[in-house]
Amino acid sequence: MSGQFQPVEVFDLVIFGGTGDLALRKLLPALFHRFADGQISAGSRVIGIARDRLDESEYRARIRAALERTLAAEAHSATMLEQFLQLISYRALDATQDHGWSELATMLNVADGRVRVFYLATAANVFVAICERLRELGLTQGKVRVVIEKPIGHDLRSAAAINDAVGRAFAERQTFRIDHYLGKETVQNLIALRFGNALFEPLWSAEHIDHVQITVAENIGVESRAAYYAGAGALRDMVQNHLLQLLCMVAMEPPASLEPDAVRDEKLKVLRALRRIDAGNADQLTVRGQYRAGASAAGPVPGYLEESGRDDVRTDTFVAIKAEVANWRWAGVPFYLRTGKRLAARVSEIVIAFRAIPHSIFAPAAGPIAPNKLVLRLQPDEGVKLWLMIKSPGPGGLRLRRVPLDMSFAEAFGVRNADAYERLLMDVVRGNPTLFMRRDEVEAAWQWIDPILNAWAASDDLPKPYTAGTWGPSAAVALIERDGRTWHEDAD
Ligand code: BG6
Repeated sequence: MSGQFQPVEVFDLVIFGGTGDLALRKLLPALFHRFADGQISAGSRVIGIARDRLDESEYRARIRAALERTLAAEAHSATMLEQFLQLISYRALDATQDHGWSELATMLNVADGRVRVFYLATAANVFVAICERLRELGLTQGKVRVVIEKPIGHDLRSAAAINDAVGRAFAERQTFRIDHYLGKETVQNLIALRFGNALFEPLWSAEHIDHVQITVAENIGVESRAAYYAGAGALRDMVQNHLLQLLCMVAMEPPASLEPDAVRDEKLKVLRALRRIDAGNADQLTVRGQYRAGASAAGPVPGYLEESGRDDVRTDTFVAIKAEVANWRWAGVPFYLRTGKRLAARVSEIVIAFRAIPHSIFAPAAGPIAPNKLVLRLQPDEGVKLWLMIKSPGPGGLRLRRVPLDMSFAEAFGVRNADAYERLLMDVVRGNPTLFMRRDEVEAAWQWIDPILNAWAASDDLPKPYTAGTWGPSAAVALIERDGRTWHEDAD
């Protein structure tokens, strides 16, 4: 396996929030896989930082336990795991206190010139304090990058304030704003499909595309993140970043190259072309929901209010939006976006629904002719399906049938589906920001989101209730059905 991967330069990765959920569930498993595949060069170091008073062996033990949990379903070598743990060290440090910083600086040894990555896997309210310290200690110069996690702010103003503060310590080219959806295999494949084939691009416009659907459905609830989620809701947590980034990848003009700014310039134009949704039209174009008690595959589940233990009747755990990219390529093509927690299944997909044929030459007995659809599935089973009409096999008259040209990546290539963080972490070390959000993109996304948030805040309506384990409030079905369309279902 390892032959496929080019080792990256030796690096130090400092993870602030080193004992947190993101580090244990995503970052360290991703690093382990890159290590096991031989992509991380010997001598690289991963330094966990958190407030907990742990020594190195206690920290490693936590990581070992977390990795064993995450890797339980996969074959992995215990020796490899032990070797990986040797890369890891720990420093107890409170971002807002003086103690421990100079020891960290000494440990990092600025003079060695190696790649240094600071990953801020913490709440956004400590980003500023951390960046300030790193600047004061002279740790921001050289081959240094900072990674910041969403949410970057809770509106345009707060996002700009965070960007300003980070910008005082790090140049834009050093700043990697991560949106892990951009690292998903299928999103990469969208680029490959669109720009590596001559077939799709001539059809990629309002002339041939009827509408686009982007669904990111989760079956989990808010779980242990209630405190964060209450202040966010699905619009801020998922739409402002993941869904809008997917929309940009679908709608952008072909960039001249895959150079970071070439791609990001095109995405920015899409964000700026989104038709404004505000108090004047939010009622017709948006639906928000909140789950009530219901059931998941594992049995009964509580509603959002009981699960979070909060009285947040206004928090949206579901959002559906009819968006439009108001430019020459896309005018009049609805982009239906939908995301929510505690939905019927964990499914993320982008559906490109082509227009119906202009004229049918078939007798009614041939059956209905469904328009073509290109479905890019991000999860759970990544792949691409192109739905086509074919003749039903055998004699008995010309009857038509709808079938998918089906390419499931795992089946087609027999490879493990790498987690998005694996690719993105290696891109950070390599210093390639193509799949990361530039400051102006984040702010343009907020610029579109803010008027929706304001419209909702000003409205007396509450999010519509939906039963956990369903596809959201019926108003979300009505949002698309009143246009004579339906949400895609895989068995369609
Ligand atoms: C995160 C959100 O960004 O994405 C979570 O904060 C959400 O609420 C998660 O659960 C979904 O990511 P994935 O990769 O599991 O679809």
